[in-house]
Amino acid sequence: MASERSSSGRPFEDMPDVCYTTFIVPMPGGHRKEREDYWDADFHSLRSMVTLFEVVTMSLDIAPLFEPLPIKHRLLRNRIVMPPMVVNRGVITPEGIAWYERRARGGVGMVIVEATRVTRFGRELTVENLRPLVVAIHEAGSLAAIQLFAATPEGAREPAELSMRAIDDLVDAFRRAAEICAEAGFDGIEPHGAHGYLLNRFFSPLQNQRTDEYGGSLENRARLALRIVQAINPICGPDMFLLYRHTPVGQGYGLQDSIRLAAALVNAGVDILDISPASAVAPADLAEPFTRLSVPVMAVNEMDRLDRALEALRERRANLIAVGRGLIADPDWPLKVRYGRFEDILPCVHCDDCHADLRQGRLVRCSQWKEEP
Ligand SMILES: Cc1cc2nc3c(=O)[nH]c(=O)nc-3n(C[C@H](O)[C@H](O)[C@H](O)COP(=O)(O)O)c2cc1C
Ligand code: SF4
Repeated sequence: MASERSSSGRPFEDMPDVCYTTFIVPMPGGHRKEREDYWDADFHSLRSMVTLFEVVTMSLDIAPLFEPLPIKHRLLRNRIVMPPMVVNRGVITPEGIAWYERRARGGVGMVIVEATRVTRFGRELTVENLRPLVVAIHEAGSLAAIQLFAATPEGAREPAELSMRAIDDLVDAFRRAAEICAEAGFDGIEPHGAHGYLLNRFFSPLQNQRTDEYGGSLENRARLALRIVQAINPICGPDMFLLYRHTPVGQGYGLQDSIRLAAALVNAGVDILDISPASAVAPADLAEPFTRLSVPVMAVNEMDRLDRALEALRERRANLIAVGRGLIADPDWPLKVRYGRFEDILPCVHCDDCHADLRQGRLVRCSQWKEEP
């Protein structure tokens, strides 16, 4: 396998694996030195002492990010997850595979491949043509999950547009897509229940105008999500895990309703809750109340701000953190954090230009760092 290199060209595997940061320290004058060299350095330099103190302290602090997490029969190598992001490169094209492989090589624990319409599976997306994507992510050391997007052949956008038959077909489409993903080797499957898309609209009392058993009470509004989870759960078996992405506060519902939904989903077999406030909302991390349930919870939104991520993990307000735009800006974010190369990180400034790329159908890339890493 090609050696992993930081942006400054140093292969990451040159560095010892036993502790996270103490072996490379910034030195006065901007040099970097190995720890052995450090002991020979000029100890009269107050700055060196302070730097050493900071680095040792940081090495303790970042540990929660790199604690492995066993889920079912799988092991996440760390707590950093790349959330699903459509980047307009496709998922079976060489460009799409290279995009995901590059992020996996940057050290992320799990890659969740972008929202993929369930209607595409079977003909356009098959076991054979999805496998290279999974293999590429695995060979780069990450687990591979995929987000499944609720879509109907008619392109229904509102709950009221779906006939009972269309609902049954949608559940079947999720089941078929999950079977194909399982056979292709994915480790996890995530129905997209967030951000105001169809499943989320079913849950919203304002957006769901149905008067049958899929509308009205919370139980009815949760019914479709539950049916989908119940359909996928047996396919996951003891090995694969089932994630669910949900927006905790949405149109006409709040945290209490979301916790009731999440509890029912966990009961039905969900293994990881991906709690994603819609990006238009203030970037608050709302994962904490869901940690009362018995499964790992992922916090989302600007978790590339290391202090936020570490605080959430340390205070057990989340078990996993999503780094989305941070990995568009710099795919090596996990490795650079792990090895204490904070000043090498190409930071995301949360300008959302990449979101504009998405909306306008352009290749998604970071506008701040033209030299796509
Ligand atoms: C270009 C782009 C594409 C996205 N595509 C998806 C998607 O396919 N499914 C989804 O649930 N969220 C999608 N999101 C939202 C991200 O998964 C994530 O929740 C959001 O960017 C906030 O996390 P961050 O602050 O770490 O970027 C997308 C975001 C961006 C910037
Ligand atoms: S374009 Fe802006 S929001 Fe997107 S990754 Fe780059 S800095 Fe972050």
